[in-house]
Amino acid sequence: MERFTDKVVLITGGGSGLGRATAVRVASEGAKLALVDVSEKGLADSQAAVLEAVPGAEVLTVLADVSSEDDVARYVSATVERFGRIDAFFNNAGIEGKQNLTERFGADEFDKVVSINLRGVFLGLEKVLGVMRSQGDGGAVVNTASVGGIRGVGNQSGYAAAKHGVVGLTRNSAVEYGEFGIRVNAIAPGAIWTPMVEASMRQIDAENPEKAAEQFIQINPTKRYGKADEIASVVAFLLSDDATYVNAAVVPIDGGQSAKY
Ligand SMILES: NC(=O)c1ccc[n+]([C@@H]2O[C@H](COP(=O)([O-])OP(=O)(O)OC[C@H]3O[C@@H](n4cnc5c(N)ncnc54)[C@H](O)[C@@H]3O)[C@@H](O)[C@H]2O)c1
Repeated sequence: MERFTDKVVLITGGGSGLGRATAVRVASEGAKLALVDVSEKGLADSQAAVLEAVPGAEVLTVLADVSSEDDVARYVSATVERFGRIDAFFNNAGIEGKQNLTERFGADEFDKVVSINLRGVFLGLEKVLGVMRSQGDGGAVVNTASVGGIRGVGNQSGYAAAKHGVVGLTRNSAVEYGEFGIRVNAIAPGAIWTPMVEASMRQIDAENPEKAAEQFIQINPTKRYGKADEIASVVAFLLSDDATYVNAAVVPIDGGQSAKY
């Protein structure tokens, strides 16, 4: 089944982890891709991964910072210039930021995390929803929130504020754009094994990140990390016409972890 034949799918944070896995997944179902990231190497590696899985896939890569208004305008116009339209948008780029108690979190770190994880998501919505509405035939957006956007995890002031904010932006835009056939949903992943989570374990225990990783997962009902592919399959569903009546949803993909908090 090719749910994305002739569809243009734009993915931020496309140079690693969840963005790359989703790129491979939707390309394997026929999508034309625009991948956005601040990492040139990440973009090149993702493009190679897509082409290995789907020889001949059409992949545009755009080096851009999602927290910059000019860069967001540039990645949106580059996508429209190359492919003529945007059907689906995985608004996903993000960073974890430093882990610390609120009293030591620091305003600069807070601003940095919020700037990428919240402002970046808003800017993407602002520009892409305008394009989708002018196309006049609907569209689908998935924003990446987190378990940290629906529950208190701790040591994550910036991340928690931003990801809870992403849930708010999702509901707000979903309510506004439903009448245009444009659906806006969010995912709330739990602990998914990507470079971001590996780095997070080094923050928790620089000496023994493997032990920290092992302990961290014990709170999860499945006692294991999720795989990026297990996120990609849900994102592909939400972006596809299999989910035409799913709007304003925040879907946990966490092995049940958020039910335990
Ligand atoms: N991995 C998890 O367990 C997990 C859990 C919940 C939420 N998330 C969220 O999923 C999203 C993807 O994370 P991941 O695990 O794939 O991490 P990752 O670090 O593997 O990938 C994130 C990508 O975003 C890019 N990026 C960072 N800042 C950027 C910016 N300013 N502009 C453009 N690109 C930028 C990075 O270069 C990287 O390629 C993030 O929003 C993250 O908060 C991840």
